[in-house]
Amino acid sequence: MTEPTVFQSPVGTHDVMGEQSALWEGMLAIFAQFAYRYGFQLVHTPMFEEIGVFNRGIGENSDVAKKEMYVFEDRGGRTYALRPEGTASIVRAFVQHQPTLPFKAWYMTPAFRYERPQAGRYRQHHQLGVEVLGTDDPAVDVEVISLAWRFYQALGLTNIRLMINSMGHQECRGRFVDVLREELFEHREQLCDEHQRTYADNPLRVLDCKKDECRAVTDDGPSLPDFLCADCAAHFARVRDGLASIGIESELNPRLVRGFDYYTRTTFEFVADALGNAQNAIGGGGRYDKLAEQLGGKPTSGIGFGSGIERLLLARAAQGLTDPLIERGLDVFVVDTTGEDVATALVDDLRSQGYAVDRAYDARSMKSQMKVADRSGARVALLIGPQEQAAGEITMRDLRSDDFEQAQLRVGRSELGAALAQLLGK
Ligand code: HAM
Repeated sequence: MTEPTVFQSPVGTHDVMGEQSALWEGMLAIFAQFAYRYGFQLVHTPMFEEIGVFNRGIGENSDVAKKEMYVFEDRGGRTYALRPEGTASIVRAFVQHQPTLPFKAWYMTPAFRYERPQAGRYRQHHQLGVEVLGTDDPAVDVEVISLAWRFYQALGLTNIRLMINSMGHQECRGRFVDVLREELFEHREQLCDEHQRTYADNPLRVLDCKKDECRAVTDDGPSLPDFLCADCAAHFARVRDGLASIGIESELNPRLVRGFDYYTRTTFEFVADALGNAQNAIGGGGRYDKLAEQLGGKPTSGIGFGSGIERLLLARAAQGLTDPLIERGLDVFVVDTTGEDVATALVDDLRSQGYAVDRAYDARSMKSQMKVADRSGARVALLIGPQEQAAGEITMRDLRSDDFEQAQLRVGRSELGAALAQLLGK
């Protein structure tokens, strides 16, 4: 008989388990705490949407929409796409439900992009993010950026640079794109192969091309900040001053146009220098003051950011930060050789009191259960054998003590609570 195939996770995806487990749990808990402190509500939307949500949202000409979306037809013949990012879905939900303004949503979501997998770049990655709809007050730009910044600080990340730019509103942006297109047309033969073909459809993409040929052309070309109208320039100045007023330094990067078509005015990206030059963006975002309208809603300003969980963890690791982000140790491990319900009742009682408790199963030998107890990392083992059961007692063993005599203590069931509380300092 042939062996059944052992399946692997799909290329560019990964399973989160083992040591990664507490890091993920900690990361989510810390972000949820920040979102709560800043007044955001958790919003969950479906993992797939009608393809139009993304085509209209992020732009049909964006690389993600053109080359990377997971598109499928369901059994009813509708065309859907797995979400490649979080913003368009949140705005679709906002337009659909018309919540009161300002609408402040946070999310944790997988995102799917058919990319060439490499370190820090996956086909399924996970983002933590926020979106605010209903105001173009520069104070909200500052708030969104500062939430990300303080979150990174709480994760222990240092050497993070905040790069910022303004794309202006549609008219400033439109004027800039026209001039840029003309400039690129004049120098089209000097562009990289890909952009010789595509510059006319989406000239902004050439600005963040990493190839020397494109760099050389755009270095001498028009610069976005010169195209801002008075209102957009004032808005941008207020954002930068606001950030400075709370001690957050921002670096102007006129090339920062980002990969989706929905951006207007403020755009920003956080770069972790510890990650070197490739895949070093740990987060990014910006304003999208026309997106709600593009998705059929009333004109409503919006801004948000998304941050890749995997990249945040890589940045921590690159900085040598190895501490688990959340304490997930067990308090108690219950060892039972009676095979009766006494362990079930004890475990239930201790968990109700708030202790983290695990136990062995299958009524194995004392020795093998103690091995599991040692491996579990629990602070205390509680042993119940026939003798203890007959006497209505429990043997309590401090698993961190080397002194066998001292480590072990027999206590009556009624004294267990006090003895445990004393040992665990709870
Ligand atoms: P994004 O820059 O495409 O923006 O993605 C946000 C973050 O997700 C990136 O900075 C990076 O940390 C992570 N990321 C993106 N692609 C991958 C990948 N293939 N593998 C691993 N990590 C990745 C957005 O998605 C926008 N929705 C952000 C936003 C929110 N703008 C306004 N509101």
